[in-house]
Amino acid sequence: MRRTAALAIVLVAFIAIQFVPVLRENRLGSGDPDASREVRWILRRACYDCHSTETRWPIWAYVAPVSWQVVQDVDRARAVLNFSEWVTYPPDHQRFLRPLIGSVTAGHRMPLWYYLTLHPDARLNGADLATLRAWASDTTARR
Ligand code: HEC
Repeated sequence: MRRTAALAIVLVAFIAIQFVPVLRENRLGSGDPDASREVRWILRRACYDCHSTETRWPIWAYVAPVSWQVVQDVDRARAVLNFSEWVTYPPDHQRFLRPLIGSVTAGHRMPLWYYLTLHPDARLNGADLATLRAWASDTTARR
């Protein structure tokens, strides 16, 4: 009896938290990096779900409390680096970000490990990393 009551409470709480509003905002940005098709493909595949405003929200992004974590990650990721707004970053800032992108990917800090467990297609192989490294260190790149 007590177990049933406890279960009922958990169930009610679970249903109740589904009504907490979360903002899953997507929109058309000002412009993405003017990089090679290859680089853009890698970034899109491995980074854009968090670092752009073109997030492909997974089904669990609609189920609290998991959705809170997903939305928080995306908000924080967009705040530090939003590829959809890349062209609005001043050249100095782009020159600062590019090597940072090269190093966080080379060091396997990005994409986040738990993202990779659910999105194995975002895994970067040696060729991907080399392509990113070349782009990251290219100081002549326009944008
Ligand atoms: C699952 C979401 C997610 C994915 C996918 C992801 N990131 Fe991130 N990234 C984050 C979050 C969250 C932060 C902010 C971490 C913080 O606040 O310390 C971050 C931070 C960063 C930073 C700043 C790091 C620093 O030390 O300041 C860079 C650069 C970055 N990410 C690049 C990338 C690149 C490049 C990719 C794709 C290869 C990628 N990220 C994929 C979530 C993600």
